[in-house]
Amino acid sequence: MCVLQVFFIESVCEDPEIIAQNIVQVKLNSPDYVDCNTEEAVQDFMKRIRCYENSYEPLDEVMDRDLSYIKVMDVGMRYLVNRVMDHIQSRIVYYLMNIHITPRSIYLCRHGESKLNIRGRIGGDSGLSPRGKQFAVCLGKFIQEQNIKDLKVWTSQMKRTIQTAEALDVPYEQWKALNEIDAGVCEEMMYEEIQEHYPLEFALRDQDKFRYRYPKGESYEDLVQRLEPVIMELERQENVLVICHQAVMRCLLAYFLDKSSDELAYLKCPLHTVLKLTPVAYGCKIESVSLKVEAVNTHRDKPENVDFCRLAKEALLTVPTHQ
Ligand code: G3H
Repeated sequence: MCVLQVFFIESVCEDPEIIAQNIVQVKLNSPDYVDCNTEEAVQDFMKRIRCYENSYEPLDEVMDRDLSYIKVMDVGMRYLVNRVMDHIQSRIVYYLMNIHITPRSIYLCRHGESKLNIRGRIGGDSGLSPRGKQFAVCLGKFIQEQNIKDLKVWTSQMKRTIQTAEALDVPYEQWKALNEIDAGVCEEMMYEEIQEHYPLEFALRDQDKFRYRYPKGESYEDLVQRLEPVIMELERQENVLVICHQAVMRCLLAYFLDKSSDELAYLKCPLHTVLKLTPVAYGCKIESVSLKVEAVNTHRDKPENVDFCRLAKEALLTVPTHQ
């Protein structure tokens, strides 16, 4: 039997500055205000709020004492949490108590091109190629030019992200949770070799790339779980540059852009490109900046034929070219 649990979330904001900002950022784009100037629209929406107030019923500390809820006051200045009944409800509370609306940007990029990238080999822990080192220097310049307030820099514990961050000449923090997806028995193999030695595994992965777990390794689904503390800390922080890996960057990007699990594993995260994510009302603005240092392409699209009995040629149709 399934017991339905209801958890109420009430957000009360009485800070006039935040209300005005919200109207400008969110409501002005609504179809209601197409031909209005800012001033008219703000005035009209304030009137609308006063009308809502007449029929609005807040959660009541005494009358609603048996309900499960969180009341968020002035976007996180204060909270009232009542009767948290299960794990999901406590996760919701934890999440809501960690998010903020201070304007900031999150910069995502991969490490510079690695020696294994050039040879079309996945995983491993190789250092940067000469072009990878060049990217690291350009990334340092880019970050300096951006003049970002209190920027935090995070890397994984793998050589290629650490070497990239070293060129920035700023303090950085290493996270094991940011390490690349563990390809298990396929670590350091080329896609061509995976097809040759494990054709069934290769087809299984193409059939469901998000859920497929490499033998003795991880799936994208595992990776999403591993990244949860990183995501929560990203929510808490302000400006952060995350220097990570292809699969990891796909997971972080999917979270901020609200992509489905099927899209996630095929998101394009080219080497030597910085993605700047800026949270805006109901989403995230994304800007892509190529630092114009050539790099090998490591993106393999889903091939049309994902059947177990496909020909090797069909399985390898979308493998990017390499040395
Ligand atoms: O395995 C390491 C790669 O960076 C992830 O690539 O999941 O598209 O095969 P893939």
